[in-house]
Amino acid sequence: MIQARDEDGQGLSQEELKDNVLLMLFAGHETLTSAITSFCLLTAQHPEITARLRQEQQQWDTDSPLTLEGLREMTYLEQVLTEVMRLIPPVGGVFRSVLETCEFGGFGDDKVLQI
Ligand code: HEM
Repeated sequence: MIQARDEDGQGLSQEELKDNVLLMLFAGHETLTSAITSFCLLTAQHPEITARLRQEQQQWDTDSPLTLEGLREMTYLEQVLTEVMRLIPPVGGVFRSVLETCEFGGFGDDKVLQI
């Protein structure tokens, strides 16, 4: 962050650096703490899910370092984590608001994106 420069070669001011460090601490700490706590609570309440999670984890040798490849293969764990965050969202809402109308991929403020 100290070294970052925008397209005009400008770096972050002392105040902006402090704000960003605080943001990273808050965004990276509170969210994960909440998600992991909810994961512990819900898996304790659902032993059959915990058993299936353990079964999936037994595929990997715990003495070997965790790899990104291995993480990607933990599909059941990912499903459970996603469901935990659906049931108990770590972030209850966001505080952003639209400042001006815009268009993205052919969609503007007068069209609704159909998924
Ligand atoms: C389960 C974990 C996490 C959840 C549920 C989560 C959720 C979110 C959400 C909903 C936003 C959007 C807020 C908004 O639109 O105003 C956000 C933004 C952000 N998150 Fe996370 N987050 C998680 C983990 C982390 C971690 C680990 C980090 C950093 C180490 C992080 C850094 C950030 C940052 C920097 C932003 C702002 C991005 C921007 O300015 O556009 N988050 N997060």
